[in-house]
Amino acid sequence: MSAFLNSSLVPTLYLLSAVLFIFGLKGLTRIRTARRGNFTSALAMLVAVIATLLEMGKFDLQWIIIGLLVGGLVGAVAAVKVEMTSMPEMVALFNGSGGAASGLVAASVLWHEVIEKNSGQTPAALLGNGGVSGMITILSLLIGFLTLSGSLVAYLKLAGKLSGSPILLPGRHLFNAALLLGVLGVGAYAVFSLSDAGSLSLVALAVVIMSLLLGIGLVIPIGGADMPVVISLLNSYSGLAAAATGFVLGNNVLIISGALVGASGLILTQIMCVAMNRTLANVLFGGFGAEPASGGGGSGGKDEYNNVRSFSAEEAALVLENAEKVIFVPGYGLAVAQAQHTVRELASELERRGAEVSYAIHPVAGRMPGHMNVLLAEADVPYEQLKEMDEINPEFKNTDVAIVVGANDVVNPAAMKDPGSPIYGMPILEVYNAATVIMIKRSLSPGFAGIKNDLFEYDNTMMLFADAKKAVQGILMEIKEL
Ligand code: TAP
Repeated sequence: MSAFLNSSLVPTLYLLSAVLFIFGLKGLTRIRTARRGNFTSALAMLVAVIATLLEMGKFDLQWIIIGLLVGGLVGAVAAVKVEMTSMPEMVALFNGSGGAASGLVAASVLWHEVIEKNSGQTPAALLGNGGVSGMITILSLLIGFLTLSGSLVAYLKLAGKLSGSPILLPGRHLFNAALLLGVLGVGAYAVFSLSDAGSLSLVALAVVIMSLLLGIGLVIPIGGADMPVVISLLNSYSGLAAAATGFVLGNNVLIISGALVGASGLILTQIMCVAMNRTLANVLFGGFGAEPASGGGGSGGKDEYNNVRSFSAEEAALVLENAEKVIFVPGYGLAVAQAQHTVRELASELERRGAEVSYAIHPVAGRMPGHMNVLLAEADVPYEQLKEMDEINPEFKNTDVAIVVGANDVVNPAAMKDPGSPIYGMPILEVYNAATVIMIKRSLSPGFAGIKNDLFEYDNTMMLFADAKKAVQGILMEIKEL
């Protein structure tokens, strides 16, 4: 029976789990199939857990049940209670847990296979492969614990418990480089030269502490608004750590799932960088947001504008009254104001009056990938009305009114027209081509990039200065009276 389990059933279940992971990821690439993708991936994880338990044969059921209950409870409570706007924080915490899990598995390999045996042999001899497995274990410890502390810093910044501005300490690059070299140097020394349990335990502890410090050192200089990119990169790292641990344990499903997480995290990081027109090096080391961006286009101070025309909700309603084609452009301010439900109500009212309504989604609108999709889905906006940038841009010139709700950088024409602008080259939603642009925000303050937005001064722009939710409610009230 046990031979059948190990030679046929367990490998088949591992294969099934790997295939389900791949289908799950594929499902997550489209809004329509995302829920199914999530469910498929969760199923894949369940199959992987069952296969691992079968492979282990003997295990302490009591601890497995406690782990399942505690983990399941934390996940379920978080899924029910956490607000959509706090998703980035939750992702940061879950990501840190993934890193911790990889690091702990590597630590347990070191403990059970080397330290506990106390056989007088080096990890290189005990783990085999000429020391490669030993070094991979050290790498898993490094990446796993670095991901844990880096994700915790990301969480604290996103939750506002730590300053969101980049904290640029002098000599930070040297400090981080010294920690990295320290982990690798001390780790290699331990793998190839140490054989007594006491010294090995101390070195493992030193590696963990240095890795934790490195995670803090790498993330603290990065601004709060760049955290989604950092989290996605750390997520990719935690996948690599899991894959590395899979090699040490000879566990194929860990290698496959780790590689999938590693690759998809890296692709997402790249997509975000391209959409912001920044290099990964600039995100990681540029200290973006430490001071107002300079260069063409100005820094977005209120005094820089001289042709801004402010309008009321009533005037906006009059423009919308006869509009046949309306595009909503949501941005970070919509998330702050939680205006998604009110926007949906206004859209329904406009549709009732015969207008065609759609929503333009910029890939980095808001502060996390898919931020706007999630908020609008929460307000039951039909998927088919959500249009991606490439699809919607040609439509603006045939549009009567573009309503920009709390977006700024993603509609800034400087990205196309001002070569001196820090965001020059970033693809934007070309709202200025619409007959009228209603721009809802509270003031002339700049967006995340900290630069002036000439759109505020365009002749076809109507500025409506108010909190997004209140402004949209105001327009809705007025239009219902017309
Ligand atoms: P932003 O350019 O950041 O502008 C948001 C605007 O919302 C602000 O100018 C602000 O103006 C307004 N606002 C804030 N609270 C508001 C409220 N309660 N009611 C109405 N308006 C409010 O946003 P965006 O256009 O969505 O662009 C996103 C930016 O974040 C881009 O620069 C992007 O590169 C960056 N970023 C995005 C991501 C991802 S993955 N999405 C990740 C990292 C960085 P007032 O203060 O005047 O109201």
